[in-house]
Amino acid sequence: MIDVDAVTQRAIDVLKRNDRGGYTIPTDGLYPYQWNWDSAISALGIAEFDLDRAWQEIETLMSGQWDNGMVPQILFHTEAEGYFPGADVWNCDGPVPSSGISQPPVAVTAARLIWEKDTSLGKSRMEALLPKLRCWTDWFMRWRLDDKGAVFTRHPWEAGRDNAPDWDKSAARIDTSGVQSYIREDTKHVNSDHRPTQKDYDLYVWLLQLGRDVNWDDGAIAENTPFKVADPLMTFITLRAVRDLHALCEAFGQNTDQLAEYITVLEAGVDSIWNPEIQAYDSRDVQTGEFAGSLSCGSYLCWYAGVDRKEMRGQLRNALSRTKYPVASYDIQGAVFDPHRYWRGPTWPCVNLLIGIGLADFGVPEEPKLRRRIRELVAENGFSEYFDPITGTPAGGKSFSWTAAAWLRWARFDTHSD
Ligand code: DGY
Repeated sequence: MIDVDAVTQRAIDVLKRNDRGGYTIPTDGLYPYQWNWDSAISALGIAEFDLDRAWQEIETLMSGQWDNGMVPQILFHTEAEGYFPGADVWNCDGPVPSSGISQPPVAVTAARLIWEKDTSLGKSRMEALLPKLRCWTDWFMRWRLDDKGAVFTRHPWEAGRDNAPDWDKSAARIDTSGVQSYIREDTKHVNSDHRPTQKDYDLYVWLLQLGRDVNWDDGAIAENTPFKVADPLMTFITLRAVRDLHALCEAFGQNTDQLAEYITVLEAGVDSIWNPEIQAYDSRDVQTGEFAGSLSCGSYLCWYAGVDRKEMRGQLRNALSRTKYPVASYDIQGAVFDPHRYWRGPTWPCVNLLIGIGLADFGVPEEPKLRRRIRELVAENGFSEYFDPITGTPAGGKSFSWTAAAWLRWARFDTHSD
């Protein structure tokens, strides 16, 4: 029997302990700064017990927005020990020391969901945020859209799923031998078997160098980079963000014509990432057109983006029948499945929260079942970063903000029996 109140209190404690004053770090040690989509998901959890502080989380994130609209993946508000690559390595000059890439725009959707909790209290805060959120979306549509309308990533860290099998084929074509020497810090905090490999890191640092060498000029990077992968998670989260902006702008009496056009473009992009061979949404290398062949947690974000597809409903039923703790970051029957290594197999409650939001929007009957599995997983194994999808064994960092948020916003509610 789960003691929901006790777990809920522990989740609140995690978020409060990770609060650094206006922003929340993902976890102490491993990730000591403000991360973009981590913060957005944390804000959803914080909104369950402190609405004002939830707004502040998004506002602090947006304070790092660059003049060109980009909102960085990491904001280095203070100096901290134990993280590589720090602000000096990125060498960016935004309003807050930052990395030079972005992350999936969950913050737009989080802002809408927080505003919906109390629209009168949130009115002036949303009015101040809206132009910034629009500007970020414009940046995605200008710099991250492929010719078919899907959203691509130029760095695995930007996609949020650092070492997903989605990037393997594209990465294999890149010669990273000119990479600078560097010392990893992540494996000093957690088991290296749970983290990306050295080869993965070489690519991350090599792509960082490529951006830094041209002072993070989007046009110059676009011309030079060999890494452009259109990805379901990025495409679905961006489409959802644009739909939410459209709804917000309507509510605030603003013109929505351009947003409506964006939606049409992105909906076409969604069709372009359907891989009939695996009967799922899949990543596609923008330059070669080749699919990755990866059924990932990103594939299941279609509903979150307002896209229902019967084949994906079938995939969801399979995921629920094949393992105790779905949805795994990569298909547990996939060729390179690894139950512990970061985005190559473990189950991440944070992404399941987003999948759950989408399923609930469509009333998909499996949503309560998925929620219950994640509820058991977290209640029994704690607020780790990710978990073995078969045994539930915790992996990665401990006391993780977005896992606590997934509990508070979603997993703790038990509205069914299965
Ligand atoms: C890291 O440093 O491991 C992060 O995932 C980058 O966002």
